[in-house]
Formats: sequence, structure tokens, C-alpha cells
Amino acid sequence: MTKETDQRTRPALRPKTRILVDGGDPEETRAIKELLGFVDGQTTNPSLIAKNPEIAGLVRSGHKLTPQQESDEYRKIVRTISPLVGDAGVSIEVFADLHTPAEHMYQQGREMFSWIPNAYVKYPCTPEGLKAAERSVREGIRVNITLCFSQEQAAAVYGATRGTQAPAYVSPFIGRLDDIGQNGVDVVSNIKRMYARGDGHVLVLAASIRSLAHLLCCFSLGADLVTVPGKILREWADAGFPQPDAAFVYPPTGSRIEYRELDLEQPWQRFNIEQELTTKGIEKFAADYRATLYPKAS
Ligand code: E4P
Repeated sequence: MTKETDQRTRPALRPKTRILVDGGDPEETRAIKELLGFVDGQTTNPSLIAKNPEIAGLVRSGHKLTPQQESDEYRKIVRTISPLVGDAGVSIEVFADLHTPAEHMYQQGREMFSWIPNAYVKYPCTPEGLKAAERSVREGIRVNITLCFSQEQAAAVYGATRGTQAPAYVSPFIGRLDDIGQNGVDVVSNIKRMYARGDGHVLVLAASIRSLAHLLCCFSLGADLVTVPGKILREWADAGFPQPDAAFVYPPTGSRIEYRELDLEQPWQRFNIEQELTTKGIEKFAADYRATLYPKAS
């Protein structure tokens, strides 16, 4: 057996940070589970669902979907993934554009939450998304607030999800901050530091992981969870499932994001949660979703 084969067949030493697969293909989740020996959870989003092999195949051959068919497909995908993963659950994202009101997001979220026993409903980190999340947690719906790019947004998530039964997730997007010349991992570190003063009802789920260095840095920062594309998890396996040691150094990828003192006890509506990357992210998710639909249905 070669060294590489040996590394890839040896199960990963389970890190303290829980590992989720970032994708929309149950076969990928199954393969990663085999490679690692475990998968704690899964995140999906409209772009990843549009890339699901079955959906992409239909669209390529000219068979577009109605919104109901798209929703049925999404349900089928998460029902296949659900039993494969552990207690970090499967995050299912509502379809929202920049005009979707909280009520409509909430109605979708309630429906999606009923699809599987371990669902987390993903709402965007906008005023309407947080209103939908606030109502959801009051009703026992687990939530994951996505497209988070700042400490202020994470502070607002903390306020909006107070009283949640299961811990809520907030998903800071590292790679997309790197893309605009910032050191994306700083936002994870700053949110962890800020939440250390809180009551622990929100967990940090590091997202938009684009490299092995991102993954190791998330471990070293003590991210509660990290969602990772299969490709990066394979790189981790190929490298022998390394964990960062005391000498681990992460070279900054861009300008540093300073920590700010924020009062977590403020009403969440007082935080400035406007973020251009959140807006762009919603637009891209909406466009990828619409690309799978019949033109007249979009
Ligand atoms: C997970 O919740 C996110 O949707 C995902 O990590 C986004 O990653 P990307 O920025 O590489 O699209």
C-alpha cells in the first residue's frame, strides 16, 4: 500500500470543529463520509442545488422545472442526504431575491423544516431574513443565517435568534471576503471573540472555504463548525488529515479586518447590517435558481 493510499483509507482524526459537506449531491456526501469515516452535517444553497447532477442534466437537455418541481427535487436531495450526516444537520436555503418579504421566507422555511428531522433553515443576513429567523426560532425551527460578512451582521444574528431552542448558526463567508482583498478568516476570529462574551446560543459555521489553509485556520480559530467542498476535504485526506499545531501560521490573504467592541445586548435592528457582498450573494443565488426554471415561471 502506498503512503497516499494508506492516508486516504485511514479515517480522519475527528477535530473539535464539526465538519459539514458544502454541496448539493448526495453521492458526494456518501463518498466523503467513506473517506473521512464521518460527516457531521451538510450545507446546501440554490447555486449548489442547481449544480446537482440530476437537476443540471435536466436543464442541459432543455427540461427546465416549475418552482414546485424544483422544490420537490430539493426535498428529494436533502432527504437522501439527511440520514448520511450527524447532528450538525442539513441546512436548506429559502429561495429569496432582494424583494422577498420576511413572511414569504418564513413560509418557505416552515415547509422546508418539515422535510427532514435534522433540518436547519438558511435565511440571508438581511433585515427581512432576520425577521423570518426571529419568528422561526420562536416556533422551534432551527436556523442558519447565511451570507454573513461582518461582525455587525453576526451581532444582529445574535439578537434576532435569542431564545432559540437549539443553537442557531451564523455562516461567515471567508473566500468571498478574500476575493475582495480582505483577510476573510478575520471575520471568523472576530465573531468568535465577540460571542465569547455571550450566552452561547449562536455557533460559528465558517463557510466559503476555498483551500486547505482556510480549513486548518478554521480549526485553529476554534470555529464551532466548518462547511467544506468535497474537493478540499479530499485535499485534507491526501495530506493525511493534518491538524494545526502550536506552530501553525496562516499568512493573511488581504487587508486585516479589525475587531470592534459591539454591545450584543442592543436590539438587533440597531446594527448596521448592510453589506454589498450579501446583496451580490442573494442576486447570484436567485439567478442560479431561476436558471433552472421555465422562463415564464421565473
Ligand atoms: C455555505 O453555506 C455557503 O453557501 C458556501 O460555503 C459558499 O461558498 P462559495 O463562496 O465558495 O460559493
